[in-house]
Amino acid sequence: MPDQHSTASAVVNLDVPGPTISRHLYGHFAEHLGRCIYEGFWVGEESSIPHVDGIRSDVVEALRAIRIPNLRWPGGCFADEYHWKDGIGPREDRPQMVNTHWGDVVESNHFGTHEFMRLCELLGAEPYISANIGSGTVRETSEWVEYLTRGDQAPMSQLRSRHGRETPWNVTFFGIGNEPWGCGGQMTAEQYVAVARQHATYARNHGQNRLCRIAAGASDDDYAWTETLMKHLTKGLGDKRPADIFQAISFHFYTFSGTWADKGSATEFSGEEYWATITKAQQIREILAGHAAVMDAYDPHRTVGLALDEWGTWWNVEEGTNPGFLYQQNTMRDALVAAVHFDAFHAHAERLMLANIAQTVNVLQAMVLTDGHQMILTPTYHVFEMSVGHHDAQRLDVHWKRQPTTTPGEEPADPAVDALTVNASVKDGVLTITAANLDPDQANTVELELRGAHLGTVSARVLTGETVSTHNTAAEPQAVAPRRFEDIETLLYDRGTQLNLTLPPASFITLCADITAT
Ligand code: AHR
Repeated sequence: MPDQHSTASAVVNLDVPGPTISRHLYGHFAEHLGRCIYEGFWVGEESSIPHVDGIRSDVVEALRAIRIPNLRWPGGCFADEYHWKDGIGPREDRPQMVNTHWGDVVESNHFGTHEFMRLCELLGAEPYISANIGSGTVRETSEWVEYLTRGDQAPMSQLRSRHGRETPWNVTFFGIGNEPWGCGGQMTAEQYVAVARQHATYARNHGQNRLCRIAAGASDDDYAWTETLMKHLTKGLGDKRPADIFQAISFHFYTFSGTWADKGSATEFSGEEYWATITKAQQIREILAGHAAVMDAYDPHRTVGLALDEWGTWWNVEEGTNPGFLYQQNTMRDALVAAVHFDAFHAHAERLMLANIAQTVNVLQAMVLTDGHQMILTPTYHVFEMSVGHHDAQRLDVHWKRQPTTTPGEEPADPAVDALTVNASVKDGVLTITAANLDPDQANTVELELRGAHLGTVSARVLTGETVSTHNTAAEPQAVAPRRFEDIETLLYDRGTQLNLTLPPASFITLCADITAT
């Protein structure tokens, strides 16, 4: 352990559960971009890579272990140039198109609606479909929903049956466009509102299926965009209640250490760039609070959800790869960026309904990277896997014991507390605690007083690398992988247990234990 070492203390009341942390905060995103869909998920029915119906088995197996709750598809920017009818029927007859946003490559349309829904079935994930608002028609949106979810002899149901699927699918999450202020049509918020109202109106609920229509929202802290959507999409339809046409509003937030033009290297970075990254990632808490505050003003009873349907690190592409494919490596720094996001998501569990990291395979902050037959798990994957205990669990608030400030109004600054995130939740009598030490140079101890229940046997794992830039490769696939965590001191007292956890530099831990009331 390094010589330098600080201690922070916090209290968790195990008998005061808070709001549910929806599993959908741990959602994912798969776009027709680079090698995400083709090679990443889809290898085709003729491939020598083990697959089920053309879908890679190793990737499915890995993603099932992190209980991927929902998957957003087909974009991203790609969604607004995708015409869904080109992606159904016999593959050899499907028309090709040009993927103008991502590498200007020819798209075969071999992976379409049926392949995506099959992928969701294999993953046990709910589909989140993004409709084409930028270049598609209201009729296309309407018919896609009918094709997906209608069960009788309606024209689109019959078409679906002719293509081999008689029973309709369940689809809840349905996005109305993507980044309409940019690649999705270069619209103003007011223009988008007009278009989105039309598309959402004709995206019908068929039979028992109930859509959660998600309006395409702001970039980062563009609260004005959110306010326009709240004013005009969730109100103003006569006697309809606020959430009748839109059930959620999204926004996007990406993390990098440099600028959009030069975002920084995924694997080679200085200490200064490391902290610039963490500081940028930490903005998510304040930005979530900002969007939530605007929404509260229009919707105090929280009938409309907030959806962060794209987030994650975005680095300069790996040298030698197609710049339009957004392929990047993934280090322990990325894992900690994910931990910072989860901490903020839990804090906003009352309003935040869904979040999707970009993207699942071979693109941006991926869970898995593939190369032919090989597949490696990234450090970010492990943080998702180690957080599964929080899915649909009830949040337990962590109360930090900060040093008192001397100047009135001064923000409390406490280096040990500021370098740590600690999250706790309970589900079915099982306590899950995750914690991150963001400091890349020194260990930090957290003394966690757990009051109001007794703990059974504690089991814990830690994720860390030799340095914060350590990453997994085909030659060293386990360079960053969870290991048993033993640096726990347990002190029993009459009202509960104190756990003293010493986290190594740049690390993430998870622990679980049964709890029983005191
Ligand atoms: O995730 C990559 C791209 O980032 C998406 O296509 C777009 O929505 C965003 O700008």
